[in-house]
This record gives sequence, C-alpha cells and structure tokens, in this order.
Amino acid sequence: MPDWDNIFTEQGRVFNEPHQDMTRLVELFQDRDVTRILDLGCGTGRHLIFLSRMGFEVYGFDASPKALSLAQQWLDEEGLTADIQTHRMEEPFPYGSGFFDAVISIQVIHHNLMADILTTVGEVERVMKPGGVLLVSVPVMHMGPVEKEHDWDCREVGTGTYIPHKGPESGIPHHYFTPAELTRVLSAFNPLELYIDDTDHRCFLGVKR
Ligand SMILES: C[S@@+](CC[C@H](N)C(=O)[O-])C[C@H]1O[C@@H](n2cnc3c(N)ncnc32)[C@H](O)[C@@H]1O
Repeated sequence: MPDWDNIFTEQGRVFNEPHQDMTRLVELFQDRDVTRILDLGCGTGRHLIFLSRMGFEVYGFDASPKALSLAQQWLDEEGLTADIQTHRMEEPFPYGSGFFDAVISIQVIHHNLMADILTTVGEVERVMKPGGVLLVSVPVMHMGPVEKEHDWDCREVGTGTYIPHKGPESGIPHHYFTPAELTRVLSAFNPLELYIDDTDHRCFLGVKR
C-alpha cells in the first residue's frame, strides 16, 4: 500500500521552504525563552533545518524512515544538528514529561482516526511544559472530501475522517477538523490565533495552560 515512505522515496524532499509563519514564530519563541522544540511529524526536515539554524535545540520524529534519512542528509549538508528518530505519533512519545518548551506539527496530526488523534494530543500535552507554545496545522475541507479534484475515491470512515482508495495517499486517513472541533481537541491550550494559512491549512497557535 502506498504511504508517506513511498511518496518521499519517489519525490524526495517534497517540502523545501518553511511554513510561512516560522519567522514570526521564532520571535514568539524568543519572547517566551523557548529553547527545546519538538517537530512532530518532521518529514524531510524543512523545520528542523530552519529552527536548528536559528539556534534552538531541535527534536523530531516521523513514521517514515525515508523522510528521516533525507532529513539527516539535509542536516549534514548544512552542518546542523537535530535529534531525530522513527516513531509513530499514536504511540507513547519517547520523551519525558514536560521536556519541551514548544511543539510544532505542520500537516501531520490529521493523518489518523480520531481515537488516535486524541492519543497524540494527549502525548503532546504530556511532553510540554506549562506555558509551552504549540503550532498545529491541518487541512481545510473546502472543496469536498480529500482533494476531490484528484479523484482519490475517498470513503468516510468516521465523522469528518476519509480514507482515499486511489492516488498517492491511498490508505492514509485524513481527518478534517471544524474550527470548533480543533479548539476542543486542543482545549489544554489557550488559543492565541486560529487562522487559515496560504496553503489552505487551518492553524492553531496556542499556549499550554
Ligand atoms: C504532509 S507531510 C508534512 C511533513 C512536515 N511536517 C513538513 O511540514 O514538512 C506529513 C508527514 O506526516 C508523517 N506521518 C503520517 N502519519 C504519521 C504517524 N502516524 N506518525 C508519525 N508521522 C506520521 C508522514 O510521514 C509525513 O512526513
């Protein structure tokens, strides 16, 4: 079954430029004395590179070994460091409680069924310090379930959760959060901003209570 490992094997890095808000996020991190950051679902490393270059202590995990090998290669090319490992987000995170000052997760946590998403969010809460900063982005369902134009033969498997049966993301769940649902799922965080970015992803920026 195709999965993200196949996508990265066939297409390489896929994402090269950091998310549009990374520069202003760094300013927020600096204002809040953030030093240690987790990139949950770091993929091929665009944010590991950006944040490591800015001087933060950066950790990342991802389910795709291919993504991590491309990320490590990229870090080596740039002479940068980050602590990265293969790990699935629905499993207990391999870090102690309160270990991170900030967590980012760009276009990742929606790739699961809701029960697993809630486990992931519980782990995010556990590994963050009170007052820690969280940025999460998830896709917006504005054109119909899962990029309708690609004819991915999506089947709904739970409220707002679709699995494509064709196309490059065949077999990978996609959950589409409403704004209220995202805020509810992330209720351990005081929201600072909830907005849609230039790539049509809903972003939640918040601070752990
Ligand atoms: C759209 S990519 C985004 C990658 C990265 N966050 C970025 O912004 O460049 C989605 C990522 O989620 C990862 N992913 C999907 N399901 C996962 C899971 N269950 N556990 C950990 N990572 C997962 C994929 O391997 C892929 O790297």
